[in-house]
Amino acid sequence: MTVIEKAHAKINLSLEVVGRRADGYHELISVMQSVSLADELKFTRITGDDIALKTDADVPLDESNLIHRAAKAYFKAAGLRFGVAVTLNKSIPLQAGMGGGSSDAAATLRALNKLDGDRFTPQQLCNIGVSVGADVPFCVLGGTRLCRGIGEQTEGLENRLRCHVVIAMQGEGVSTPLAFARLDESLWGDRALAEAAELRADAMASALKNGELEVLAAHARNHFEQVILPQHPYVACIKRALLANGAALAQMSGSGPCVFGLFSQADAAKQAALSLQQSGAQAFLCSFAL
Ligand code: C5P
Repeated sequence: MTVIEKAHAKINLSLEVVGRRADGYHELISVMQSVSLADELKFTRITGDDIALKTDADVPLDESNLIHRAAKAYFKAAGLRFGVAVTLNKSIPLQAGMGGGSSDAAATLRALNKLDGDRFTPQQLCNIGVSVGADVPFCVLGGTRLCRGIGEQTEGLENRLRCHVVIAMQGEGVSTPLAFARLDESLWGDRALAEAAELRADAMASALKNGELEVLAAHARNHFEQVILPQHPYVACIKRALLANGAALAQMSGSGPCVFGLFSQADAAKQAALSLQQSGAQAFLCSFAL
Protein backbone atom coordinates (compact mmCIF):
# COMPACT_ATOMS: atom_id res chain seq x y z
CA MET A 1 0.00 0.00 0.00
CA THR A 2 1.28 3.48 -0.94
CA VAL A 3 0.23 6.86 0.42
CA ILE A 4 1.20 10.22 -1.10
CA GLU A 5 1.15 13.26 1.19
CA LYS A 6 1.77 16.91 0.46
CA ALA A 7 3.72 18.77 3.13
CA HIS A 8 2.73 22.42 2.81
CA ALA A 9 5.05 25.24 3.79
CA LYS A 10 3.75 27.72 6.38
CA ILE A 11 4.13 31.43 6.87
CA ASN A 12 3.68 33.30 10.14
CA LEU A 13 1.24 36.12 9.41
CA SER A 14 2.26 37.26 12.88
CA LEU A 15 4.78 35.96 15.38
CA GLU A 16 5.10 37.56 18.80
CA VAL A 17 7.30 36.01 21.49
CA VAL A 18 5.88 36.77 24.93
CA GLY A 19 7.92 34.69 27.36
CA ARG A 20 10.24 31.82 28.06
CA ARG A 21 9.40 28.62 29.90
CA ALA A 22 11.62 26.96 32.48
CA ASP A 23 12.62 24.32 29.89
CA GLY A 24 14.01 27.03 27.57
CA TYR A 25 11.19 26.91 25.01
CA HIS A 26 9.54 30.24 24.23
CA GLU A 27 5.90 31.15 24.55
CA LEU A 28 4.43 32.80 21.53
CA ILE A 29 1.28 34.10 19.91
CA SER A 30 1.30 33.45 16.19
CA VAL A 31 -1.19 33.44 13.33
CA MET A 32 0.05 30.70 11.05
CA GLN A 33 -1.01 30.03 7.48
CA SER A 34 -0.34 27.06 5.19
CA VAL A 35 0.61 27.95 1.63
CA SER A 36 0.45 26.02 -1.63
CA LEU A 37 4.24 25.61 -1.87
CA ALA A 38 4.79 22.02 -0.69
CA ASP A 39 7.11 19.05 -0.51
CA GLU A 40 5.72 15.74 -1.71
CA LEU A 41 6.30 12.51 0.18
CA LYS A 42 5.53 8.95 -0.90
CA PHE A 43 5.19 6.25 1.76
CA THR A 44 5.08 2.52 0.98
CA ARG A 45 4.80 -0.28 3.52
CA ILE A 46 7.68 -2.72 3.19
CA THR A 47 8.61 -5.94 4.94
CA GLY A 48 10.82 -5.66 8.01
CA ASP A 49 10.88 -2.62 10.25
CA ASP A 50 13.22 -0.18 8.49
CA ILE A 51 12.41 3.48 7.84
CA ALA A 52 14.13 3.75 4.44
CA LEU A 53 14.36 7.40 3.39
CA LYS A 54 15.33 8.46 -0.14
CA THR A 55 15.68 12.03 -1.37
CA ASP A 56 17.66 14.24 -3.73
CA ALA A 57 17.53 17.08 -1.18
CA ASP A 58 20.52 18.07 0.90
CA VAL A 59 19.09 16.81 4.20
CA PRO A 60 20.47 14.23 6.64
CA LEU A 61 19.13 10.74 5.93
CA ASP A 62 19.91 9.38 9.38
CA GLU A 63 17.91 9.37 12.60
CA SER A 64 18.26 13.13 13.02
CA ASN A 65 15.91 13.69 10.09
CA LEU A 66 12.49 14.86 11.28
CA ILE A 67 10.80 12.20 9.11
CA HIS A 68 12.68 9.54 11.08
CA ARG A 69 11.89 11.22 14.38
CA ALA A 70 8.20 11.50 13.49
CA ALA A 71 8.04 7.84 12.45
CA LYS A 72 9.70 6.76 15.70
CA ALA A 73 7.27 8.91 17.73
CA TYR A 74 4.34 7.40 15.80
CA PHE A 75 5.45 3.82 16.36
CA LYS A 76 6.09 4.48 20.05
CA ALA A 77 2.57 5.88 20.50
CA ALA A 78 1.00 3.05 18.49
CA GLY A 79 2.98 0.35 20.34
CA LEU A 80 3.97 -1.36 17.09
CA ARG A 81 6.36 -0.96 14.21
CA PHE A 82 6.27 -1.70 10.49
CA GLY A 83 8.70 -1.06 7.65
CA VAL A 84 8.20 1.96 5.44
CA ALA A 85 9.99 3.32 2.37
CA VAL A 86 9.78 7.11 2.13
CA THR A 87 10.62 9.20 -0.94
CA LEU A 88 10.89 12.92 -0.26
CA ASN A 89 10.63 15.43 -3.13
CA LYS A 90 11.75 18.69 -1.56
CA SER A 91 10.48 22.05 -2.83
CA ILE A 92 10.48 24.07 0.41
CA PRO A 93 13.85 25.77 1.03
CA LEU A 94 15.76 24.58 4.11
CA GLN A 95 16.24 26.75 7.22
CA ALA A 96 14.10 29.41 5.66
CA GLY A 97 11.38 29.98 8.27
CA MET A 98 8.76 28.10 6.28
CA GLY A 99 8.50 25.04 8.52
CA GLY A 100 9.59 22.56 5.85
CA GLY A 101 11.05 20.02 8.28
CA SER A 102 8.04 20.25 10.63
CA SER A 103 5.69 19.83 7.69
CA ASP A 104 7.54 16.72 6.48
CA ALA A 105 7.24 15.35 10.03
CA ALA A 106 3.50 16.10 10.07
CA ALA A 107 3.03 14.46 6.66
CA THR A 108 4.83 11.38 8.03
CA LEU A 109 2.41 11.17 10.97
CA ARG A 110 -0.62 11.50 8.67
CA ALA A 111 0.73 8.93 6.21
CA LEU A 112 1.67 6.33 8.83
CA ASN A 113 -1.76 6.76 10.39
CA LYS A 114 -3.37 6.03 7.00
CA LEU A 115 -1.13 3.00 6.46
CA ASP A 116 -2.14 1.87 9.95
CA GLY A 117 -5.93 2.03 9.41
CA ASP A 118 -6.54 5.49 10.97
CA ARG A 119 -5.60 4.42 14.48
CA PHE A 120 -5.38 8.02 15.75
CA THR A 121 -7.57 11.12 15.44
CA PRO A 122 -5.95 14.29 14.00
CA GLN A 123 -5.78 15.74 17.54
CA GLN A 124 -3.98 12.63 18.77
CA LEU A 125 -1.50 13.01 15.89
CA CYS A 126 -0.89 16.60 17.07
CA ASN A 127 -0.13 15.32 20.57
CA ILE A 128 2.38 12.85 19.12
CA GLY A 129 3.83 15.57 16.85
CA VAL A 130 4.67 18.07 19.59
CA SER A 131 7.45 15.76 20.81
CA VAL A 132 9.03 16.11 17.34
CA GLY A 133 8.73 19.90 17.03
CA ALA A 134 6.66 22.81 18.29
CA ASP A 135 5.24 23.58 14.81
CA VAL A 136 4.35 19.98 13.99
CA PRO A 137 0.81 20.11 15.48
CA PHE A 138 0.02 23.13 13.29
CA CYS A 139 1.41 21.30 10.25
CA VAL A 140 -0.66 18.18 11.00
CA LEU A 141 -3.87 20.24 10.73
CA GLY A 142 -2.80 23.09 8.42
CA GLY A 143 -4.97 25.93 7.12
CA THR A 144 -5.19 29.17 9.12
CA ARG A 145 -4.67 28.83 12.86
CA LEU A 146 -3.93 30.96 15.91
CA CYS A 147 -1.12 29.26 17.82
CA ARG A 148 -0.21 29.76 21.46
CA GLY A 149 1.90 28.02 24.08
CA ILE A 150 5.13 27.06 22.32
CA GLY A 151 3.08 27.02 19.11
CA GLU A 152 1.42 23.69 19.80
CA GLN A 153 -1.94 24.96 21.09
CA THR A 154 -3.78 25.75 17.88
CA GLU A 155 -7.20 27.13 17.16
CA GLY A 156 -8.67 27.14 13.63
CA LEU A 157 -9.52 30.58 12.19
CA GLU A 158 -12.08 31.41 9.54
CA ASN A 159 -10.31 32.85 6.52
CA ARG A 160 -12.13 34.61 3.70
CA LEU A 161 -9.08 36.54 2.56
CA ARG A 162 -8.18 35.79 -1.04
CA CYS A 163 -4.75 37.12 -1.90
CA HIS A 164 -1.64 36.25 -3.86
CA VAL A 165 1.49 35.29 -1.97
CA VAL A 166 5.12 35.76 -2.97
CA ILE A 167 7.76 34.12 -0.78
CA ALA A 168 11.37 35.07 -1.38
CA MET A 169 14.78 34.62 0.16
CA GLN A 170 18.42 35.17 -0.58
CA GLY A 171 21.58 34.38 1.32
CA GLU A 172 22.15 31.93 4.13
CA GLY A 173 19.60 30.09 6.24
CA VAL A 174 19.01 30.99 9.89
CA SER A 175 19.31 28.70 12.91
CA THR A 176 16.04 28.94 14.87
CA PRO A 177 17.57 28.25 18.34
CA LEU A 178 20.18 30.99 17.74
CA ALA A 179 17.49 33.43 16.62
CA PHE A 180 15.48 32.74 19.80
CA ALA A 181 18.62 33.21 21.90
CA ARG A 182 19.21 36.67 20.41
CA LEU A 183 15.74 38.04 21.24
CA ASP A 184 15.48 40.80 23.80
CA GLU A 185 14.18 39.15 26.97
CA SER A 186 13.66 42.36 28.88
CA LEU A 187 10.06 42.74 27.75
CA TRP A 188 8.88 39.26 28.63
CA GLY A 189 6.65 38.93 31.63
CA ASP A 190 5.17 42.38 30.94
CA ARG A 191 1.44 41.73 31.09
CA ALA A 192 0.57 44.78 28.99
CA LEU A 193 2.72 43.55 26.10
CA ALA A 194 1.23 40.08 26.14
CA GLU A 195 -2.26 41.63 26.23
CA ALA A 196 -1.39 43.89 23.29
CA ALA A 197 -0.21 40.82 21.36
CA GLU A 198 -3.53 39.09 22.15
CA LEU A 199 -5.47 42.14 20.94
CA ARG A 200 -3.48 42.21 17.70
CA ALA A 201 -4.12 38.47 17.20
CA ASP A 202 -7.88 39.10 17.71
CA ALA A 203 -7.78 41.94 15.19
CA MET A 204 -6.00 39.69 12.70
CA ALA A 205 -8.54 36.92 13.25
CA SER A 206 -11.40 39.34 12.40
CA ALA A 207 -9.50 40.72 9.40
CA LEU A 208 -9.09 37.19 8.04
CA LYS A 209 -12.74 36.40 8.70
CA ASN A 210 -13.81 39.56 6.86
CA GLY A 211 -11.21 39.22 4.08
CA GLU A 212 -9.59 42.58 4.90
CA LEU A 213 -5.98 42.59 3.74
CA GLU A 214 -5.14 46.16 4.82
CA VAL A 215 -6.47 45.57 8.35
CA LEU A 216 -4.50 42.33 8.57
CA ALA A 217 -1.34 44.17 7.48
CA ALA A 218 -1.84 46.89 10.10
CA HIS A 219 -1.69 44.36 12.96
CA ALA A 220 0.99 41.98 11.66
CA ARG A 221 4.33 41.74 13.52
CA ASN A 222 7.30 39.41 13.62
CA HIS A 223 9.55 39.88 16.65
CA PHE A 224 12.42 38.06 14.95
CA GLU A 225 12.81 40.89 12.44
CA GLN A 226 14.52 42.95 15.18
CA VAL A 227 17.35 40.44 15.48
CA ILE A 228 17.56 39.11 11.92
CA LEU A 229 17.31 42.35 9.88
CA PRO A 230 20.60 43.83 11.12
CA GLN A 231 22.54 40.67 10.26
CA HIS A 232 20.80 39.66 7.03
CA PRO A 233 20.64 42.71 4.77
CA TYR A 234 18.81 40.77 2.05
CA VAL A 235 15.75 40.48 4.29
CA ALA A 236 15.23 44.24 4.29
CA CYS A 237 15.98 44.43 0.52
CA ILE A 238 13.35 41.80 -0.24
CA LYS A 239 10.80 43.49 2.03
CA ARG A 240 11.39 46.79 0.21
CA ALA A 241 11.13 45.12 -3.22
CA LEU A 242 7.84 43.42 -2.31
CA LEU A 243 6.34 46.68 -0.98
CA ALA A 244 7.60 48.64 -4.01
CA ASN A 245 5.83 46.11 -6.24
CA GLY A 246 2.53 46.65 -4.45
CA ALA A 247 2.43 44.18 -1.55
CA ALA A 248 -0.02 45.22 1.18
CA LEU A 249 2.15 43.36 3.70
CA ALA A 250 5.78 42.24 3.45
CA GLN A 251 7.14 40.48 6.51
CA MET A 252 9.66 37.86 7.50
CA SER A 253 8.28 34.40 8.30
CA GLY A 254 9.38 32.42 11.36
CA SER A 255 12.97 33.16 12.32
CA GLY A 256 13.72 33.95 8.68
CA PRO A 257 15.31 34.62 6.41
CA CYS A 258 12.38 34.11 4.02
CA VAL A 259 10.03 37.03 3.52
CA PHE A 260 6.47 36.81 2.27
CA GLY A 261 4.45 39.44 0.47
CA LEU A 262 0.65 39.49 0.30
CA PHE A 263 -0.87 41.07 -2.80
CA SER A 264 -4.48 41.77 -3.72
CA GLN A 265 -3.57 41.84 -7.43
CA ALA A 266 -2.31 38.74 -9.25
CA ASP A 267 -0.35 40.75 -11.84
CA ALA A 268 1.56 42.68 -9.20
CA ALA A 269 2.44 39.46 -7.36
CA LYS A 270 3.67 37.86 -10.59
CA GLN A 271 5.76 40.92 -11.43
CA ALA A 272 7.24 41.02 -7.91
CA ALA A 273 8.25 37.33 -8.08
CA LEU A 274 9.81 37.86 -11.52
CA SER A 275 11.81 40.91 -10.57
CA LEU A 276 13.08 39.22 -7.38
CA GLN A 277 14.17 36.19 -9.43
CA GLN A 278 15.92 38.49 -11.90
CA SER A 279 17.82 40.10 -9.03
CA GLY A 280 19.12 36.68 -7.93
CA ALA A 281 16.67 35.81 -5.14
CA GLN A 282 14.72 32.59 -4.87
CA ALA A 283 11.07 33.57 -5.22
CA PHE A 284 7.87 31.54 -5.26
CA LEU A 285 4.44 32.64 -6.35
CA CYS A 286 1.83 30.79 -4.33
CA SER A 287 -1.48 31.04 -2.51
CA PHE A 288 -3.00 30.24 0.88
CA ALA A 289 -3.72 26.54 1.33
CA LEU A 290 -6.97 26.52 3.30
O1 C5P B 1 10.44 22.61 18.26
P1 C5P B 1 11.49 22.78 17.23
O2 C5P B 1 12.47 21.63 17.21
O3 C5P B 1 10.98 23.11 15.86
O4 C5P B 1 12.31 24.06 17.68
C1 C5P B 1 13.64 24.28 17.31
C2 C5P B 1 14.31 25.10 18.42
O5 C5P B 1 13.75 26.40 18.45
C3 C5P B 1 14.13 24.54 19.81
O6 C5P B 1 15.16 23.65 20.14
C4 C5P B 1 14.20 25.78 20.66
O7 C5P B 1 15.55 26.14 20.87
C5 C5P B 1 13.60 26.85 19.78
N1 C5P B 1 12.17 27.09 20.06
C6 C5P B 1 11.83 27.84 21.18
N2 C5P B 1 10.51 28.10 21.44
C7 C5P B 1 9.54 27.66 20.60
C8 C5P B 1 9.87 26.91 19.46
C9 C5P B 1 11.19 26.64 19.22
O8 C5P B 1 12.69 28.28 21.94
N3 C5P B 1 8.27 27.95 20.87
